[in-house]
Amino acid sequence: MTVKIVKTEDGSLTFFSEKFKEPYHSVTAGAFREAVEKFCVPAKVSEKVRERGRFNLFDFCFGLGYNTVAFLDTVFKENPQAKVRIVGIERDVKVIESSLKIPWHRFEKWKWFLKEILKNRRVEGDFPTLNCFTPQISAKIFIGEARKFLKHFYRQYLGFADAIFHDPFSPKVNPELWTYEVFLLEREICKEDGIFVTYSTSSAVRKALIMAGFGVKNGIVLGRKTPSTIASPAFETEKEIKKKKSIPYRDPTLSDPPELIKSRKRGCEYLLKKQTLFECIF
Ligand SMILES: C[S@@+](CC[C@H](N)C(=O)[O-])C[C@H]1O[C@@H](n2cnc3c(N)ncnc32)[C@H](O)[C@@H]1O
Repeated sequence: MTVKIVKTEDGSLTFFSEKFKEPYHSVTAGAFREAVEKFCVPAKVSEKVRERGRFNLFDFCFGLGYNTVAFLDTVFKENPQAKVRIVGIERDVKVIESSLKIPWHRFEKWKWFLKEILKNRRVEGDFPTLNCFTPQISAKIFIGEARKFLKHFYRQYLGFADAIFHDPFSPKVNPELWTYEVFLLEREICKEDGIFVTYSTSSAVRKALIMAGFGVKNGIVLGRKTPSTIASPAFETEKEIKKKKSIPYRDPTLSDPPELIKSRKRGCEYLLKKQTLFECIF
């Protein structure tokens, strides 16, 4: 695999996807800084692992593994006796393999984890999996299409996650992973006090999260002007978020092509505009 490597604001490296025309991490926030500050901190990893000694993570789009690695680092710094379970999904195993070939700077010590999962390959259902089982870490990364994974496996992980790191490419280019239907299944995977974290600030995404049963709040502002998003069944949606009108991405069978998902949303927006105009005139 030939990958374009990009240096980000905190000095850490990431890849650029030629297919999606986006980097794998925020260049302006810094790749590892984003993993820690946009994902681990808002998910309250340190606090929960200090109090409970256990934490289950669902890493939706494992990519280079940075979010999981930042998670492991946060957990064991806070509580060296902690026990964690990690379930992840990623379509492209080559990204995981390529990640090992670039320097990880202060997280270099966690490369053993990626080597371990790449060594320990199994198959579950139709999905190849990468695994790590130690007395404190149990990890399984499914390799395949994320929607197919959700459809086949969500029942196995009902109420599993203390945190969901939702990290596909942006809704504009990867809309199939930002739909109401995807969030409904992630809601099933989330604990009642679990926290869903994503970098996106899109109102369409926030609307779909509310419809799926999450309360939604602003996350932190890092590397750009708008805040990220945190959501939980236990949150009350912030007033100003509730007020925003938006049409969510929809994918009733969890199998539509991205272009159809986008044009369905555009069609609804057009009809709504026409109806609003009609109401204004008559
Ligand atoms: C922004 S990157 C994730 C970065 C990652 N969280 C990390 O910490 O390194 C998005 C990832 O989503 C994966 N992806 C995109 N569409 C997918 C799909 N339909 N199913 C599974 N994975 C997908 C891409 O292969 C890519 O690795």
